[in-house]
Amino acid sequence: MRLAAEELKGMKTMNDLDKFRVKYLGKKGELTLVLRGMGRLSPEERPVIGKLANEVRTSIEDNIENRMKQLAREEQVQRLEKEVIDISMPGKRKNLGTKHPLSIVVDEIKEVFIGMGYKIAEGPEVELDYYNFEALNTPPDHPARDVQDTFYITEKILLRTQTSPVQARVMEKQKPPIKIICPGRVYRSDEVDATHSPVFHQVEGLVVDKGVTMGDLIGTLKEFAKALFGEKTEIRLRPHHFPFTEPSAEVDVSCWTCGGIGCRVCKGEGWIEILGAGMVHPKVLKMCGIDPEVYSGFAFGIGAERTAQGRFNIDDMRLLYENDIRFLRQFK
Ligand code: PHE
Repeated sequence: MRLAAEELKGMKTMNDLDKFRVKYLGKKGELTLVLRGMGRLSPEERPVIGKLANEVRTSIEDNIENRMKQLAREEQVQRLEKEVIDISMPGKRKNLGTKHPLSIVVDEIKEVFIGMGYKIAEGPEVELDYYNFEALNTPPDHPARDVQDTFYITEKILLRTQTSPVQARVMEKQKPPIKIICPGRVYRSDEVDATHSPVFHQVEGLVVDKGVTMGDLIGTLKEFAKALFGEKTEIRLRPHHFPFTEPSAEVDVSCWTCGGIGCRVCKGEGWIEILGAGMVHPKVLKMCGIDPEVYSGFAFGIGAERTAQGRFNIDDMRLLYENDIRFLRQFK
């Protein structure tokens, strides 16, 4: 008995325990042999030994069961220790990206115009000379081409210098009323500096309908300027020349930093130029199959970089393209 109890303590697994049980209680087990030998005992001895043997069996069974329970508990404790999670450990931080300031501003511009009932139009960045210049009343020898030198794929195919070719593409396909904006990337062979980049962005706007006037254009641009730069913002039109609009104007907004008094940002002017605009030239309407006797329209091209710089007070355009994460993280 005592021997068996000692042996039991050494049992480390359920398997061991099973072997132990067979050894003592199995068919050929030690205790079973004792019970089998009972026949050879005298009638007086038999009940005594029988009782004893039964007690021993119950005791061994109880012991096995207890040891089983103990082993199960130990196993559980071990498993819990092994599977423990250290919740004090810092987690893996996910780096969520933020919208690029240019995208933020272009999205804001879209919102403003969609709110006024405009639809979004698109056109190719690799464009035909025809749409970029000729259909916009800018024939091959026109001096206006000089200020918009670009990258030529062939003599007739180029990287668009402006989003204005989308005007012609839309007018060719769609009859008035037309009311679209086209945000997009444009190209010019300019040297990189604080205010120039060979790749930049514009948002073109075009409205063609019966009775559209310069007053509509001015009202629209005022709304746009106030929505982006604040209620107090004023706009100013300076006469200008674009081959595809007549009359044409360059449009300034009152300086977002000084409000018009004159400061470093507006170079003392009080005004900052952000777009070109005008009434669609009758020749352009006609070339696109729209009768200028019946319809009139206005168009504008907003400089997205300028607008983003004003909106966020960014003094160097190059910051917008350098992808410096310290810069980009500021725009949440
Ligand atoms: N496309 C002109 C430019 O890039 C801007 C413009 C657009 C002017 C529409 C008038 C009308 O300078």
